[in-house]
Amino acid sequence: MPLTDLEIPRTDGAIPPEVRRFIRDADRRISDFQVWSRVPAFVPSNFEPAYRVLRAVAENPLARGTRFCEWGSGFGAVTCLAAMLDFEAVGIEVEAELVAEARRLADDHGLTAEFVAGSFVPPGAENRVYAAGEYAWFTTEADAAYAELGLEVDDFDVVFAYPWPDEEGVTAELFDRYAGPGAVLVTFHGGDDFRLRRKTVGRRKK
Ligand SMILES: C[S@@+](CC[C@H](N)C(=O)[O-])C[C@H]1O[C@@H](n2cnc3c(N)ncnc32)[C@H](O)[C@@H]1O
Repeated sequence: MPLTDLEIPRTDGAIPPEVRRFIRDADRRISDFQVWSRVPAFVPSNFEPAYRVLRAVAENPLARGTRFCEWGSGFGAVTCLAAMLDFEAVGIEVEAELVAEARRLADDHGLTAEFVAGSFVPPGAENRVYAAGEYAWFTTEADAAYAELGLEVDDFDVVFAYPWPDEEGVTAELFDRYAGPGAVLVTFHGGDDFRLRRKTVGRRKK
């Protein structure tokens, strides 16, 4: 098995009021956005359980560091939640209007989170993506964002993604190939379903 599945520790503590307020505001903005603007590839995560999972990662010795990247960050809410948990949080999103909304959301809540327009697929990985399958929404048609960030995929300690079902395999494959040893991948799969996986330390890149 290329990535190791980890159990997500339970975090039963109350959600802080400022986080509740933030999630309410993000949900409201997204509902409004979806009335006037349609980006069919964008479906938001379930933010409260997402916060609980990120808090479990932050509060337990699961991640090797605090650099966080959301692959396909949409409205940016999960990246903002990571920032609220003191991750150095970055979101990469291919749709420019979503990047603008994400920046506005973070600014309005006084959060330090960076959003970059572009593709999270690392340069040179495009053929690997298309060899792995066909996708309804997944795209590689954008500049890679890592150059703008001045970072590589393997600089990130925690990557979050909400892949469409037909993107789940290739998302894990990209993480397995390009993330650094010991980095963790958090993925959302609908409802309350999250997976936490770690790239095995010392595994050789193919
Ligand atoms: C299912 S939505 C999830 C949004 C957000 N992560 C969340 O959990 O609320 C997937 C997002 O990935 C974006 N996306 C698809 N391919 C991408 C790529 N190669 N690089 C960056 N964003 C991409 C889509 O535009 C969409 O906003």
